[in-house]
Amino acid sequence: MESTRILLLLLLGCFSASCASGSKGRGFIGWKDPENLDDVIVDQTAVDTLTSPLTTVFMPVLYIIVLVVGLPANAMAVWVFLFRTKKKHPSSIYMANLALADLLFVIWTPLKISYHFQGNNWTYGEPLCKVLMGFFYGNMYCSVLFIACLSVQRYWVVAHPLSQQRKNNKVAVCVCVAIWVFIWSTTTPLYLYNHTAKLKTPNITTCHDVNVIHDPLNPFPSIELLYFYFIFMGLVVFLVPCVVIVVAYILLLRALGDSMGDSAASKNRHRAVMLIVIVLVTFLVCFIPSNIMLVVHYSLLKDGLVNNGYGFYVSTLCLASLNSCLDPFIYYFVSEDFRDHVKNTLLCRSSRTVERMRVSFNSMKYSRKSKSYVSDSGDTQSSAC
Ligand SMILES: *[C@@H]1O[C@H](CO)[C@@H](O)[C@H](O)[C@H]1NC(C)=O
Ligand SMILES: *[C@@H]1O[C@H](CO)[C@@H](O)[C@H](O)[C@H]1NC(C)=O
Repeated sequence: MESTRILLLLLLGCFSASCASGSKGRGFIGWKDPENLDDVIVDQTAVDTLTSPLTTVFMPVLYIIVLVVGLPANAMAVWVFLFRTKKKHPSSIYMANLALADLLFVIWTPLKISYHFQGNNWTYGEPLCKVLMGFFYGNMYCSVLFIACLSVQRYWVVAHPLSQQRKNNKVAVCVCVAIWVFIWSTTTPLYLYNHTAKLKTPNITTCHDVNVIHDPLNPFPSIELLYFYFIFMGLVVFLVPCVVIVVAYILLLRALGDSMGDSAASKNRHRAVMLIVIVLVTFLVCFIPSNIMLVVHYSLLKDGLVNNGYGFYVSTLCLASLNSCLDPFIYYFVSEDFRDHVKNTLLCRSSRTVERMRVSFNSMKYSRKSKSYVSDSGDTQSSAC
């Protein structure tokens, strides 16, 4: 009894100590310089983090990876789902939209890369910073919702294999339009808030990295818009789809378990399990840490406390952008058309080359009439097309 009480006191002590050390002003809050209201003052820890290799080397390198992998993969996905998928399926409609959302974010990453390489100096002005943030968070929540739709649809296909295709496609298009309208209208607060802050020392302008507090005694009005945006997005737009996805996958696995037996079913099962693994990794790396840290960060800011884990917080936001590289793996395991195009592209084969190879193999088969060549050509065809 006594020991429990001591333990509780100790825990409380630690907690209040960490809060107290927080209120000393470590982190990324900036105050207006009383002598020159154009400039923002930040403390030494903020200066250290803004000039550290984490934000000036590691983060731009990660964005380069996002750009190099995400741009071609998602561009190819949009092209395949829109123009190369003959039998349109609700899942290809959801994946086309997911790829489009990723593409809309990835095209802005060059600005982000140059911002970090210049020592976190935003030289493109406030409007472009707003656009970058709007597309970054718009992509994040669009992706969560499209992945949720795709997961429910995957379950639906297994549970109701005979449902009507045309009707389902109409529903999918309507759902996608609703998601785009909803997400783009909810990003309005991001466009109303001033994200850039011109710091006094170092002589840089930050984009979204420093929250300017106008009145230190009453910090809430300065960040009110972002607070309501991130609390709403984190607790509703993120958490609800999370629950939906978990339920959909539990039901999907159960439905697949019932239909086990033939080899087609086991292949389907393998693909479904891979899809679940990719979505799980995407959420564990990209969405869950960033959303927890956003809610924590703005809840602390609201009370004038600063986030002691600021380096961790900015890293989680940076990791969130990796979802644009992970989504192509989802397309790979769900869509046969995308799988074929990836294989042909990676093997540097155009469809014409595949056709030519097939012809040459066939002629070889006929000229030699050897059994081994027949099986060889069969293998090559199935892997190439
Ligand atoms: C910071 O940059 C501004 C804008 O170019 C310039 O006018 C100012 O002199 C610079 N200040 C310092 C301390 O370098
Ligand atoms: C940041 O950019 C501004 C405007 O281009 C420039 O005046 C300033 O010197 C830059 N700061 C650093 C540290 O390079």
